[in-house]
Amino acid sequence: MAILVTGGAGYIGSHTCVELLNAGKEVVIMDNLSNSSEESVRRVEKLTGKQIKFYCEDIRDEKAYDKIFSENDIEAVIHFAGLKAVGESCRKPIEYYDNNIGGSVKLFEAMKKYGCKKIVFSSSATVYGMNNISPLREDMQTGGTTNPYGTTKLFIERILSDIYDSDNEWSVILLRYFNPIGAHKSGIIGENPKGIPNNLMPYISQVAVGRLPCLSVFGDDYDTPDGTGVRDYIHVVDLALGHVKAVEKASAESGLHVYNLGTGHGVSVLELVKAFEKASGVTINYKIAPRRDGDVAVCYADASKALRELSWKAERDVEEMCEDSWRWQSQNPEGF
Ligand code: NAD
Ligand code: WQD
Repeated sequence: MAILVTGGAGYIGSHTCVELLNAGKEVVIMDNLSNSSEESVRRVEKLTGKQIKFYCEDIRDEKAYDKIFSENDIEAVIHFAGLKAVGESCRKPIEYYDNNIGGSVKLFEAMKKYGCKKIVFSSSATVYGMNNISPLREDMQTGGTTNPYGTTKLFIERILSDIYDSDNEWSVILLRYFNPIGAHKSGIIGENPKGIPNNLMPYISQVAVGRLPCLSVFGDDYDTPDGTGVRDYIHVVDLALGHVKAVEKASAESGLHVYNLGTGHGVSVLELVKAFEKASGVTINYKIAPRRDGDVAVCYADASKALRELSWKAERDVEEMCEDSWRWQSQNPEGF
């Protein structure tokens, strides 16, 4: 029995494959490599000493599923595949709805056709919108997303919950990630954004290696202790381990469950910059810039439900996140 990991060549997917293989699971990856490289799959194999069956296929391609489901005994799916750049989604909404929602619907159809009814889905804290006050709890109202990317996550959550309502044999776990950063301890795999990074940590680490000249800190006049935005950064290996727990729960019982995967602690932009400087020994050149549209001042999780129901909690602190991001970036300054 194998786990089908869509988007398994990507940042979170590759780290999750390591932990699935370490936990003794068989892994099949489906990824069209639109935002990743097959090299990450090879490195995961090297790291774990185990083999992965890799399909370079698009989740929107119906025929690809016939091949994958007939050639493998798929027990459950972890669904990472999707486009994820907030700004790009505002410029290319049709591509985002087609890729993320269209692709997900094709996947769910294929799962139904082949009788595989267990799925763990990569959702995001972005589904809480702008109006809820942190710590964010799973029972808070979702909606009010501010960009097409976030709306795709909201809709896919809704589609999966409708599927579960129509057939209670499904097992659906929606994981809402906060801000994943860091990399595997080996420094062999990590985040490899194409072009100029949108997210804070890859931006900082590319300034550190000299690929970018200066970090813009988006706003220092928020109502936070140092005026800069506060987020719940979570080590990608902790996040990956959360998926192992979630897929085990999905395999064991049917039901629909939603979990935040975060640490429950907020860290400001300047605190992260300082922690990175300490971990790397490199001074980060930064300047204060205007606020970025659509940003909230503070966003962090109430992570207690995942502890209660999945026996999962984030173990790695910000220092370790920075050390591991730095090891990956300094050993692979140009990525894979
Ligand atoms: P990533 O871009 O590194 O990984 C996504 C993978 O999906 C890539 O390998 C890409 O090639 C693949 N993919 C995209 N469209 C595809 C398609 N049509 N068919 C097949 N493969 C396709 O991103 P990531 O950071 O690893 O994120 C994984 C998931 O987690 C995404 O769904 C993302 O929206 C979600 N998420 C990420 C974050 C974050 O900050 N990184 C936060 C919350 C949620
Ligand atoms: C973090 C903080 C910025 C870049 C995004 C998505 C969200 C989720 C995770 C997928 C904020 C500040 C950033 C920079 C900065 N992704 N910042 N200079 O916005 O919390 O979440 O990624 O689901 O949906 O919206 O993450 O890393 O972009 O920003 O000052 O160059 O860093 O203003 O306070 P964010 P981020």
